[in-house]
Amino acid sequence: MPIVTTKEMFAKAYNGGYAIGAFNVNNMEIVQGITEAAAELRAPVILQVSKGARAYANHTYLMKLVEAAEIETGLPIVLHLDHGDSFELCKSCVDGGFTSVMIDASSRSFEDNIAVTRQVVEYAHDHGVVVEAELGTLAGVEDEVNVSAEDSSYTRPEDVEEFVTRTGCDSLAIAIGTSHGAYKFKPGTKPQLRFDILDEVARRLPGFPIVLHGSSSVPQEFVEAINAHGGNMPGAIGVPEDMLREAARRAVCKINIDSDLRLAMTATIREYFDEHPADFDPRAYLKPARAAIKAMVRHKIIDVLGCDGKA
Ligand code: G3H
Ligand code: 13P
Ligand code: ZN
Repeated sequence: MPIVTTKEMFAKAYNGGYAIGAFNVNNMEIVQGITEAAAELRAPVILQVSKGARAYANHTYLMKLVEAAEIETGLPIVLHLDHGDSFELCKSCVDGGFTSVMIDASSRSFEDNIAVTRQVVEYAHDHGVVVEAELGTLAGVEDEVNVSAEDSSYTRPEDVEEFVTRTGCDSLAIAIGTSHGAYKFKPGTKPQLRFDILDEVARRLPGFPIVLHGSSSVPQEFVEAINAHGGNMPGAIGVPEDMLREAARRAVCKINIDSDLRLAMTATIREYFDEHPADFDPRAYLKPARAAIKAMVRHKIIDVLGCDGKA
């Protein structure tokens, strides 16, 4: 099975009431942990690479890791650029073998967002690559962009038909209250997602795949483990998983998860070093870290995304 696009995956997910997990990858252990879980559960999977990940690990290394995962698992795997911020970056990923790119011009004006998204769509479609775009602004940190809660804004459903028609994008990320990172909601407040916006967008774009960014749940056991082993993450709160499951039953076909993998990995390594202070072999602490990633992804596939057995 070659590296594939999201076209068929999303059509099946939309009709089946489930979502595909889009997990961020930065190194070999993360790729292995995610794809071993997906392979065991026969789940389709999206591996996504941010601009920062590409700068950290190098395009070719990431590309080859994903190709290796595809060979090892035989799974349909999508290789996706997460939060592409320019035509040039998207073009470079299309030219370099990615099967899906996101152009995120959500912080620009409506017209500028349409113009650059259209440009990316024309290039990508000519090369058999699909495009995710974004309307509305999420709070939180992604690469070097930091959006405060006050500057974030929900997607306006009345904009989506014009945006999708004029850009020709294949999927749309919307802002309904999720945000990037581990500090999504204020301690003491009740996490809320605007399902009314999601449903109105879906009504206006029947059958069109919707994407949710910022969808880590920030499991408290990992925050507590980090804090118990020398960390300091007070007030880290994520999106409740039952809300994500509900979104996956509706029009959401792709759910982005990065922070939860970081938490699982970091908690495991902190714990390991507390228990084995004399160890210094990277394999000794990366092995349980990889296992923690795998366990996290298994849980997401079964309990949140509902895509087990769908590959
Ligand atoms: O939305 C952003 C992802 O979590 C990627 O984070 O830019 O630090 O690689 P990064
Ligand atoms: P989290 O920070 O909630 O994991 O979101 C990841 C994401 O949206 C990647 O694009
Ligand atoms: Zn994101």
